[in-house]
Amino acid sequence: MISPVLPSYARAPLSFVKGEGSWMIEADGRRFLDFGSGIAVMALGHGHPALVDALKAQADKLWHTSNLYTVPEQVALAERLVEHTFADTVFFCNSGTEAAELAIKMARKYWHESGQPERSTILTFDGAFHGRSMAAISAAGSEKLTKGFGPLLEGFEHLPFGDHDALRAAAAQPHVGAIMVEPVQGESGIRPLPDQCLKGLRDLCDEHGLLLILDEIQCGMGRTGRLFAHEWAGIAPDIMLVAKGIGGGYPLGALLATEGAAKGMTAGTHGSTYGGNPLGCAVGAAVMDEVTREGFLDEVNRKAGLLRQKLEGLVAAHPEVFDEVRGAGLMIGVKCKVTNTDMVQAGYEAEVLTVPGGDNVIRVLPALTISEDEIAEGVARLDAAASALERQGAPA
Ligand SMILES: Cc1ncc(COP(=O)(O)O)c(C=O)c1O
Repeated sequence: MISPVLPSYARAPLSFVKGEGSWMIEADGRRFLDFGSGIAVMALGHGHPALVDALKAQADKLWHTSNLYTVPEQVALAERLVEHTFADTVFFCNSGTEAAELAIKMARKYWHESGQPERSTILTFDGAFHGRSMAAISAAGSEKLTKGFGPLLEGFEHLPFGDHDALRAAAAQPHVGAIMVEPVQGESGIRPLPDQCLKGLRDLCDEHGLLLILDEIQCGMGRTGRLFAHEWAGIAPDIMLVAKGIGGGYPLGALLATEGAAKGMTAGTHGSTYGGNPLGCAVGAAVMDEVTREGFLDEVNRKAGLLRQKLEGLVAAHPEVFDEVRGAGLMIGVKCKVTNTDMVQAGYEAEVLTVPGGDNVIRVLPALTISEDEIAEGVARLDAAASALERQGAPA
């Protein structure tokens, strides 16, 4: 018999009842070190006092008004995002998928308004992940996401990761209007796009007048050590997708755009009942205040260096379990030689949480606020988990 909750996830038999910073407490009282942050959502850890206060204060005032009216918390958060990024304007939604959906609509509308509606095709890359809506799975294109869900949405061309000739040829086609890419691919196993590739993409977009859409849903909001990952390459997109960390656990997504890219999105062209709801925006503003606080990102970079060093040591100590460490900032993938889900499972037994990803990787995505001691403790627990697998002689 089907379970009351649709069985679309393979869930671990763990039920958490409380979170404290980088710790999650299971119903039976066990304390797990959280190296997963709810898949890069809990940017400031669990129960951060500034976020709890912001949510409680807003809950006491007003929960929802609709977008028929000006929402002051929305304006305040949009102003912060505009101040700290390339963007001129922001649309708020409830998830990353919705931000991706709007990016696709916005790119099409841009070309419609520009008198070239035929430029509706968006180039995307192997291993991409932009969410689970029909547009998002069509954009990503992998069989894993799309099988059984056809017919897919038209208007995407999928390119191999890193094939510059194929990319240059595709971008020159007259029906192409945009390129959409994650600066660091998350779901496919933490695959960072080198800075020079991101610069090359920007140049290619400029050469052909294409819109550059960056999906920073997983890699943004300080995770790589800059507010947004593309800043490392010194470039700016035309459209950017943000979610996960910006809400610090409250469902919040955002699309950021330049005025030019957004020129087609006039009143009545797009909407969302809950998007930009006062509760989410109050929390989002508190997250932004923390992440943009003087010195915050310096600390992220310092801790990222420490974590990276410790994980390199872990890989060196367990060459039969692990292959390599990769990633950027506190968005790290440890490629396994054993099956990654076995490693994640062994982590559960050692009371440390990681997230499986593509390419046989475990993702290490701690809260940006994790302490040095917690980093050491988490890696020690992974070390114990790897030793346990070695003792079992886990098959590769
Ligand atoms: C890069 C990227 N894009 C889009 C999404 C979809 O976001 P959501 O699950 O909030 O709809 C995710 C979620 O994992 C993501 O990592």
